[in-house]
Amino acid sequence: MLIRIDEASGHAGAEIEIRGWLYHKRSSGSIHFLLVRDGSGVMQAVVAKQDVSPPIFAAAAELTQESSLIVRGVVRVDPRAPGGHELTVRDLQIVGLAKPYPITPKEHGVEFLMDHRHLWLRSRRQHALMRIRAEVIRAATEFLDRNGYLRMDAPILTPASVEGTTTLFETPYFDLGKAYLTQSGQLYNEAAAAAFGRVYCFGPTFRAEKSKTRRHLTEFWMLEPEAAFMELDEYMEFAEAMVCAVVTQVLERRRADLQVLERDLARLEAVRAPFPRLSYDEALSRLLDAGKPLPWGEDLGGDEETVISAAFERPVFVHHYPARCKAFYMQPERDRPDVVLSADLLAPEGYGEIIGGGQRIHDLPLLEQRLQEHHLPEHVYQWYLDLRRYGSVPHCGFGLGIERSVAWIAGIEHIREAIPFPRLLNRLYP
Ligand code: 4AD
Ligand code: MG
Repeated sequence: MLIRIDEASGHAGAEIEIRGWLYHKRSSGSIHFLLVRDGSGVMQAVVAKQDVSPPIFAAAAELTQESSLIVRGVVRVDPRAPGGHELTVRDLQIVGLAKPYPITPKEHGVEFLMDHRHLWLRSRRQHALMRIRAEVIRAATEFLDRNGYLRMDAPILTPASVEGTTTLFETPYFDLGKAYLTQSGQLYNEAAAAAFGRVYCFGPTFRAEKSKTRRHLTEFWMLEPEAAFMELDEYMEFAEAMVCAVVTQVLERRRADLQVLERDLARLEAVRAPFPRLSYDEALSRLLDAGKPLPWGEDLGGDEETVISAAFERPVFVHHYPARCKAFYMQPERDRPDVVLSADLLAPEGYGEIIGGGQRIHDLPLLEQRLQEHHLPEHVYQWYLDLRRYGSVPHCGFGLGIERSVAWIAGIEHIREAIPFPRLLNRLYP
């Protein structure tokens, strides 16, 4: 019977078949220990000379790293084996004999590994990361589904910018001029929220960022909830609940993967609501105390974010940023229009901003004024202005960066390993 390796515990003593790839081989004269990987796990398959026919023993001898194969045999419980089970092989078939595999157990440089990303994904560490990534996405979308948010995806090809015009990727678009790859689904989400109350979109977003940092990709995935009749405080409570739900679920379901990555689990277990909330002004005085003063009105950069988050075990919100550091759609504070009702969530341990969001302008004349101040062409935002013409309400939304969140939760050095095929300033291959 064909099984996947992670189902082996239900088949102790039974004859089964596994289809996969050779991860590693160790041989002595009369026995081959094959570590077989099928994507669900790794299992040791033992080929003993006395148990199999000579051609099968010869096939096992011929197997090279990453050859694809089918093995059949009996599952034996063995606490010392990886996964707690071992396969006593009766039959083995080589499906594709691999050429000498470029990724060997010896150390490789990051650029070499990135050039071989299509193969690097087969390694144990990358398996752990990709499973954690899938769990982060699952946990966050399940949380939104449970809370009555309707998934309403936004277009990728768009006529206008969301987050400033300096990071747009553009492409010719037939007779209509230029299209831009979306920076965020937010504007469409706002239309969807006025239709359905609570919505979210999830998809790739693009920024032509000329930043070569460990936090920046040019293509990243963003999960963006948007809710009508929501104001700043409620948004922070909701975002905090979502992040807690994600961390809890990853701890519950991907603990073994976190352990492969040697993640300090205590750091994740400390992630509980409520998260500290600092105003931008309070953040500046903390920076001053830390000997890293920032002039009022400047955006927090990576270094500043690290200083602020280092003071806390939990993620921290920084709210009420100066209007001039933020996008055109941010709702100003009633009594102090130089600051806006925004709140970014900074992850602990120097991972930087994982959520950006806030309350949107719901007043038509103010939004028109902002478009002008930001030199944005009003005609392409007419549909967006319509949302303020027909039943406008205070509303909030935010974007959770998936790769930043994965990098933080998994505790990895650089965001490039948090996505299967990263797109960076200097990388479009593979
Ligand atoms: O703060 P940002 O730019 O916010 C928005 O795009 C809003 N329109 C979202 C909304 O309100 N619906 O981006 C949101 C998050 C950041 O906090 C960060 O986690 C991630 O997206 N992000 C990036 N991740 C990787 N590489 C980049 N270049 C990123 N830029 C933003
Ligand atoms: Mg931001």
